Amino acid sequence: MTKLGCEVLIAMGKIIAVANQKGGTGKTSCAVHLLHWCSQRGSTLLIDADSQESSTRLLQGRDYNCQIERNPEDLFELAQEEAENNQYVIIDCPASLAEVTKAAIYCSELVLVPVQPGVLDVDSANQTFRQLKHAQKIRKDGTPKGLAFINRATKGTRALSEAKEYLQQHPHVTLAKTVIYQRQLIQDAPASRSTAFTLPGATAKEVAGFYQSLFEEVLPHNA
Ligand SMILES: Nc1ncnc2c1ncn2[C@@H]1O[C@H](COP(=O)(O)OP(=O)(O)OP(=O)(O)O)[C@@H](O)[C@H]1O
Ligand SMILES: [Mg+2]
Repeated sequence: MTKLGCEVLIAMGKIIAVANQKGGTGKTSCAVHLLHWCSQRGSTLLIDADSQESSTRLLQGRDYNCQIERNPEDLFELAQEEAENNQYVIIDCPASLAEVTKAAIYCSELVLVPVQPGVLDVDSANQTFRQLKHAQKIRKDGTPKGLAFINRATKGTRALSEAKEYLQQHPHVTLAKTVIYQRQLIQDAPASRSTAFTLPGATAKEVAGFYQSLFEEVLPHNA
């Protein structure tokens, strides 16, 4: 069965994890852009669950709510408590399927999984999809929903079309319609303490459009 976006609309007051055991797939970039996006709509907390503390460093001195928590039990409780006080809680997971990532997956309504095109990357994402499947089995209400999206793609490549084909058939995640392409601006934005949403120029507008389109697949327009 082919599945594409929009099946995963979620409501306010929800916990969203960004996870993939593979390193460098774009979890933190997604989480930070999502934090900006959600903060425009209501109070939002980003929980940095990664010992690299990348999102904390990217957000230093900026006007966002961000908290570090790497203990699995404490993360589980913190996310649930903060979901009562905030409209959105975002968890930036580390590049592993350690207990803290499992805790994040188990307490979330939605798990965003950035996947880079390429056989090894797609294979590796399967481990994260497996955790999603386990959590869905235990929760029994269809959550956490999984939305995979392709990140760092290059148009017209075989790797992109193969990744799309594989992920569209996957039983435990939905593949986002939005593809985030490889753009230098995403790497450069942190140096100016910015996201694509706040930088000037045509490329920033294009990248902001990628993220906006991705987030609109999962967050209701009127939220
Ligand atoms: N679409 C993209 N185009 C260009 N560069 C990107 C893109 N997405 C992410 N990057 C860059 O790739 C690097 C890794 O991204 P990021 O830190 O978001 O990944 P991560 O999954 O959080 O990594 P880790 O597993 O180490 O936590 C960063 O330098 C980031 O700026
Ligand atoms: Mg990261």
